[in-house]
Amino acid sequence: VSIALVLPSAGSGRRLDAGRPKALVEVAGVPIIRRTIERFASLAGLVELVGVAPPGAVLEFNEALVGLELRGCEIRVVAGGESRQDSVRAGLAALTKDAEIVCVHDAARPLVGKETIDAVIEAARLSGAATAASRPADSVREDDGEGLTRPLDRERLWLVETPQAFAAELLRQAHARARATGLQATDDASLVDSCGHPVVIVDSAGGNIKVTRPEDLDLVEAILAKEP
Ligand code: C5P
Repeated sequence: VSIALVLPSAGSGRRLDAGRPKALVEVAGVPIIRRTIERFASLAGLVELVGVAPPGAVLEFNEALVGLELRGCEIRVVAGGESRQDSVRAGLAALTKDAEIVCVHDAARPLVGKETIDAVIEAARLSGAATAASRPADSVREDDGEGLTRPLDRERLWLVETPQAFAAELLRQAHARARATGLQATDDASLVDSCGHPVVIVDSAGGNIKVTRPEDLDLVEAILAKEP
């Protein structure tokens, strides 16, 4: 199966407060986006990769990716948009190889496991749509917006992560439909869901953290230092 990888990386990194796009911040001397891409290095069938950068940072992103070798997979950087959804749409529009599966993965998740990537791709190949997710470790309450909260059963909740993978045509349709109807979502599985297509959950079993705040950088560095 042929796979295209889209890496939304156009977030400002405001919460990280690093003064540069989050994906370019270095962990142990290597930009986060480069570490993230290296997690996909052994993925069979990967034919093309598009990194989506903040509009002013395309050149810097290209520099951060110089020398990356992914077994003949083409690597490109394009400018993203206002929201993550806009950025993924820009990434989709830049694909040229007609891959059967499109995998979307946040550049900000550099610790994603190979087993999780493989399982999400396989589930998408079989069913059309899949996402990594994990169970909440904390108890969860829902706010009714009027000052009251109520407990939710965490055994029935999933925290949605990336990678997410889809039959390419399904993801294109979902984005086109969202654009036409004005639907905004924080992930692509939600858009596919709204087309009436179920999304298979792959349990990442935790550890697939998204670098968001400064302390996350130390955590990622410590975990990487322990990897064989
Ligand atoms: O903001 P959040 O951490 O949820 O963003 C998830 C991913 O989406 C990040 O990798 C971020 O760079 C990306 N993003 C984007 N374009 C935006 C906003 C976020 O590509 N406009």
